[in-house]
Parts: sequence; structure tokens; C-alpha cells
Amino acid sequence: MNILVTGGAGYIGSHACKALAQEGYTPVSYDNLVYGHRWAVRWGPLEEGDIADRVRLDAVIQRYRPAAVMHFAAYAYVGESVQNPGKYYRNNVAGSLTLLEALRDRGIDKLIFSSTCATYGVPEQTPIDDQHPQRPINPYGASNLMIERMLGDFDTAHGLKSIVLRYFNAAGADPEAEIGEAHDPETHLIPLVLDAAAGQRPAVTVHGDDYATPDGTCIRDYIHVTDLAQAHVLALQALEQGAESTAYNLGNGQGFSVHEVIEQAKSVTGKRIPVEIGPRRPGDPARLVGDASRIRRALGWQPEYADLASILATAWRWHTSSWEARTSPVSNGSAARQAGPTCS
Ligand SMILES: NC(=O)c1ccc[n+]([C@@H]2O[C@H](COP(=O)([O-])OP(=O)(O)OC[C@H]3O[C@@H](n4cnc5c(N)ncnc54)[C@H](O)[C@@H]3O)[C@@H](O)[C@H]2O)c1
Repeated sequence: MNILVTGGAGYIGSHACKALAQEGYTPVSYDNLVYGHRWAVRWGPLEEGDIADRVRLDAVIQRYRPAAVMHFAAYAYVGESVQNPGKYYRNNVAGSLTLLEALRDRGIDKLIFSSTCATYGVPEQTPIDDQHPQRPINPYGASNLMIERMLGDFDTAHGLKSIVLRYFNAAGADPEAEIGEAHDPETHLIPLVLDAAAGQRPAVTVHGDDYATPDGTCIRDYIHVTDLAQAHVLALQALEQGAESTAYNLGNGQGFSVHEVIEQAKSVTGKRIPVEIGPRRPGDPARLVGDASRIRRALGWQPEYADLASILATAWRWHTSSWEARTSPVSNGSAARQAGPTCS
């Protein structure tokens, strides 16, 4: 059974492709390779194309007749979205609309969407459950909320069933180290920490150590990318069995501070990790921790790599075995993107 995976050459999409293949599906990656990597597409065909290109989308859908879609294709840099909102609304919102219309016209009625905890904005309480009000504070979060809204409307009007998965911080790498995280430029904490451990950058910058948390640094919920991928397969199987459209949080329910991540990384890698303290980043809440109990109850999702040491160990294994792949010039990523996702 073919599953169309938009953004299948990216970090989370490529791990979802592996999980799909392990369950007997054929993932068809549809990616414009703006930020994705050809080497990450290993478990099915790669079809190069943009989600905004209706002609190309129609041709790929016609060729593979996918039973469902996993939609990862998006830009996901919070800071950049504040400086260039048009880029985010055009790519993420208008691109997703083109995709949804193509699916509607071909009668494809199942979709799993990568949304984000950034749709919640500044939390009223933690852990954040999936009924928490959604009041995004940046265009990236707003673009995802708009797509969630479109999905609801396409279900009402056209019967397109969707499961929205709102991730907290995706982290770690395939435990077999076949694929892993390779954003360019990298803004996520764990790969930056591991770069510093490997001597590939002089130090890791901690953005603010005066928050109202036990050690003064921000607390985040890290979820292993393989556990995320598994949740996508469970969501697909639920839709196959006739599930109604819904949205679930995907997080570990545990928060770790920036200092805790660095200390744990020292112990996992056995390396020195130089640290610099920098200013706070605008819009960074002190604590973002998710409550994923609904998806655990509804779909039986059970994270396998929930502890920070496993997340860091898999990331380190990939990091040390993949330097060449990660640094080869295979993407057209703009060097102008800004660091600073509060929750991408
Ligand atoms: N990484 C995280 O911690 C995190 C957290 C919450 C949500 N998300 C969401 O998960 C999804 C995947 O994130 P990721 O970390 O794997 O990012 P990524 O950049 O590694 O993957 C995104 C992929 O989409 C492709 N793409 C972008 N625009 C496209 C377009 N118009 N047409 C075709 N392909 C396009 C890129 O080339 C890339 O391969 C995104 O929607 C992101 O918002 C990620």
C-alpha cells in the first residue's frame, strides 16, 4: 500500500518512512529538497516536487494512487517566520491548501498532519494537554493552526479524515543510525550540544539562565523521533479502521532544562562541552511540557525511548557516524534563516 509522505526527505518524514516500510507500507516521498536530503530517502521512491505545484502533485498521485498521506512538508523556523511571515503563509498554508485540493479531487480521504506545540502559544498551565486553548504567538505557529482549521473544514465538506499530531521537541535519531537529524542551519539544542561535544563548534550558547526554573534555564519536552514515527503509523492504522478526525499531543510529559541536557550529553559522550551564556530569545516560555495521555489511551502509543540518555545516545551515534552525509552540500537551505524556535 503506497503512502504519500510530503517532506519525506526531511528529519521526521524520513524516520516516518522507515517506520512505514517496517510495517509493510511503501512510502513515496514527495519533497522539493529545499531542506531535505536525497540520502535520507531509503525506503521507497523519491518524487521531487513542491506541494504548491498542482500539476506535479496530480501526476505523482495518479502514478502511485496513495491510500493516505503523511504531511510533513513545511518550513519550521520560528524566528524566520517572524521576520518573513509571507514565506510561511505561502509555503505552509497555501502549499497545504493545494495539497488538500489535490487529495479532494482524487478522492484520497486520509491524512496525518505534523502540527506543533507552537499552536498553543504561551501556556496557561503545564503540562499542556490537547484541549489547551490555541493562541499562537508567531507566524509559524499560526500557519499550523490555519492548516488544522482547513483540515476540519475539508472533513466537514469533503469527508477528508485527518489526525493532527502536535509535537513537542523532536529529538534523537534512528537507533540503527541509518538516518538522523541534519537541519541546515541547525537551531535545535541537542544537535548543537553534540556539535560542541564533537569539537565541530566552539561552544553551545544557552539562551538565558535567569528563568523561573530550578536551574534558571528553559525546560522542554523532548520526544524521540522514532517514537514520533511510530505514532504516525498508529494514526494511519486508526484512520484505516474508520477513526474520526482528531488532534493529539505528542510529547514525553517530562521536561528537561537546557543545563540538564548538556550535563546528560557530557555523560553520554564522555566529552567536554563548552558553554556560553547568551541573552534570552524573545518569545521563549520558561517551560513547555506536553500531556500526551490522550494518544496513549486512544491509540495505545507507548514511547520506547522516553529517557533523555537514550535520546542523546541515538543522536550521538548518528552524529559521530554521519559527519560526511550531514555536511555534504545537498540542500539549497538559505543561510539567512534565524535561530530561535521556542517549540518547532
Ligand atoms: N523538528 C521538530 O522538533 C518539530 C516540532 C514540531 C513540529 N514539527 C513539524 O514537523 C514537520 C517536519 O519537521 P522536520 O524537523 O522534519 O523539518 P525538515 O525541514 O527536516 O523537513 C521538512 C521537509 O519538507 C520539505 N519541504 C518544505 N517545503 C516544501 C514544499 N513546499 N514542497 C515540498 N517539500 C517541502 C523540506 O525540503 C524538508 O525535507 C514540519 O511540519 C514541522 O513544522 C517539527
